[in-house]
Amino acid sequence: MTEIPEHLLNRSKARKAELAGESAGAPAAPAAASSEVATRASAPAKTKADPAPVAKAVEPDPVYVRAAKERRKIPFWAMSALAMLPVWTFLYMVALTPEEKVAAGPISTGTAVYGACAGCHGGNGAGGAGQVLYEGASLKTFPHIEDMLNFVYNGSQRYQAAGLKVYGNPDREGGPHVPYGYNKNPMPQQGEKAGGALSEYEILGVVCHIRYDISGADPASEEWAAEWENWCSPDSPIYPALKSGATTFDTLHEDMKTLMPAPNKVGTEPRETTAK
Ligand code: HEC
Repeated sequence: MTEIPEHLLNRSKARKAELAGESAGAPAAPAAASSEVATRASAPAKTKADPAPVAKAVEPDPVYVRAAKERRKIPFWAMSALAMLPVWTFLYMVALTPEEKVAAGPISTGTAVYGACAGCHGGNGAGGAGQVLYEGASLKTFPHIEDMLNFVYNGSQRYQAAGLKVYGNPDREGGPHVPYGYNKNPMPQQGEKAGGALSEYEILGVVCHIRYDISGADPASEEWAAEWENWCSPDSPIYPALKSGATTFDTLHEDMKTLMPAPNKVGTEPRETTAK
C-alpha cells in the first residue's frame, strides 16, 4: 500500500472541508464571499491601476516623440506655395511637352484668313471671280511684297479712284494688271482704314500665305530668302511688330530700316508701284 504523505492528506482534508463549508453555508455565504472576492479582486487591480497614470504623466516622452514635437511646423506662408503645387506640376508638364511643329506667325494666320478670299480666288488660287494667284502669278504681279500688301489693303476701287492705271509691276510678263481688268470685277479693299475688315498683321499673313504656299515662292531660294526672313517666316520681326502695334504699314519703312534689305513703304493709301 502506498503511503500518502501527511501534508497531502491534510491538504485534501482541508479542501474537502472547504467544499463542504461552501455548499453548506451557501445561502448566507455568497454576499460575504463575493464581497470578499470583490475586494480581493479589486485590491490588486487598484494597486496596479493607481500608480499607472501617475507613472505615465511623469514618464518623459521618447526621444522620437520629443523630436516630432519640437520640430518646426510648416510655416503659414508656405501653405500658399504648397497650394500652388498642382499649378506648378501643370506648368512643368507643359514645359516638357515637345512643341508642335505648327508654323506659328504669318503663315498660320494667313492660312486662316485666306478662307475669306477662297470664294473668289479658289482654294488653291486657280482663280474664279477673282484673279489667278497660283503658279507664280502673284509674284509676277508683285515682285515687291510691299506693293502686294498695299493693293490688298486698298483694292481696285481705291486704285482707280486715285487715278492709277496699273497695279503691281508695269512691266509684268504678259502685260500689266489694271484695276477692273479682270472680268471687270474689283478686288474688294481689305484694310481697316480703307473700309475693310482685316488688321495689318492679318493682311501680311494672308499675303505671305499666297506668295509662299499658293504662288510657290521658295523660301530657300536666293530670290526670296531675305523677304521670307523679314516678312513671312515664323521668326519675322515685322509680323509681331505689326501685331503688337509697334509698327504700321505707314511707318515700318522707318521702324524697320535696319533690316536687310530695308523694307519699302507699304502705306495705306493707293500708290505707284515701288521702283525696282
Ligand atoms: C469678291 C471677290 C473677291 C474676294 C472676296 C477677294 N478678291 Fe482678290 N481679287 C478679286 C478680283 C476681281 C481681282 C482682280 C482685280 C481687278 O482686276 O481689278 C482680285 C485681285 C487680287 C490680287 C491681285 C492678283 C494679281 O496678280 O493681279 C490679289 C493679290 C488678291 N486679289 C488678293 C485677295 C485676298 C488676299 C483676298 C482675301 C483677303 C481677296 N483677294 C479676296 C476678287 C476678290
